[in-house]
Amino acid sequence: MSDHASGAQAVRAGMTLETFIMEGMFGTPAATGTFTSLLNQISFAAKLVTSQVRRAGLANVLGYTGEVNVQGEQVMKLDELANETLITTLGRRGHCAAVASEELDEIQHMTNDRRARYVVMFDPLDGSSNIDVNISIGTIFGVMRREGEGAVSEADFLKPGRELAAAGYVIYGSSTMLVLSTGRERGVHGFTYDPTVGEFFLSHENIRTPERGSTFSINEGNACRWGEPVKRWAEWIKAEDKATSRPYGARYVGTLVADAHRTLLKGGIFAYPADKKSPDGKLRLLYEANPFAFLFEAAGGMATNGSDRILDIEPKKLHQRTALVLGSREDVTTFGAFMRGERTA
Ligand code: AHG
Ligand code: MN
Ligand code: MN
Repeated sequence: MSDHASGAQAVRAGMTLETFIMEGMFGTPAATGTFTSLLNQISFAAKLVTSQVRRAGLANVLGYTGEVNVQGEQVMKLDELANETLITTLGRRGHCAAVASEELDEIQHMTNDRRARYVVMFDPLDGSSNIDVNISIGTIFGVMRREGEGAVSEADFLKPGRELAAAGYVIYGSSTMLVLSTGRERGVHGFTYDPTVGEFFLSHENIRTPERGSTFSINEGNACRWGEPVKRWAEWIKAEDKATSRPYGARYVGTLVADAHRTLLKGGIFAYPADKKSPDGKLRLLYEANPFAFLFEAAGGMATNGSDRILDIEPKKLHQRTALVLGSREDVTTFGAFMRGERTA
């Protein structure tokens, strides 16, 4: 049994995500009822997307739609399907005032009811380039509480990630897992989907990222575009040195959710630094970097843009990009020392 669901916790492992939320395991926001309901809506959307993903090859949802999204990227049929599913599901029950999605140019209003206290940002289908080759993909989301009674606007989304009420992701891998947190004090918990029952069951209670890991995850195909500090760090981490357990093992799936999930559980470092081709970084702040930064900090890990804390970045635009480094505290700290020129080897 994995070290997360030891014998003592096996009893709780029979616990569904719904029960876990209802019992306020995610902290006081659950007390309001709307937050509980919103989280359950997200988990329902994840079940619907899971069934679409698992049948993608059969349900003719592989391949491209022929459209290009605001990112200038080809839209896969599954990107669109997951996007529609999340919008439709979150539009019910009136708790979500608006959504921001990688697949939408602007925010989409969900209700005029001023009592809707939350907005949700998401990457409906992460790892699109891996859909057609049956490699793990995912969904990433963040939940932000609205302040004041005013009409919902983009300003409700453009807040630093440290203000998130909840964040999580779904990984459609060898099994489907939903990982969720409402912040440091309440921990990070993983729920594995049992398709025979149609429920997410607690399988990884209180995920903690090890202080240091043994793998590094970066697209070395970009090496010729990296700045000197990243090149020096990459050479350092691949050098032989028994005393510091180097070289680290290389792992790169090319789906953020998969590379980040492995790093969250096992430790190590994931980096998508800025480079000559992507001077602001490639990954999106609101619905890729912030949710994962929130989760890594809640699990005792760390998340920077190479030097500064991701969760303190003041967003200016919905789809703005950032460099992203996620992982074990020690490994991300070392990366930062190279970036600041404090280390060259
Ligand atoms: P998306 O499929 O939502 O556009 O995200 C793809 C992202 C992310 O999942 C991954 O970490 C990164 O693109 C991989 O980029 P490279 O192929 O440039 O390594
Ligand atoms: Mn993505
Ligand atoms: Mn995507």
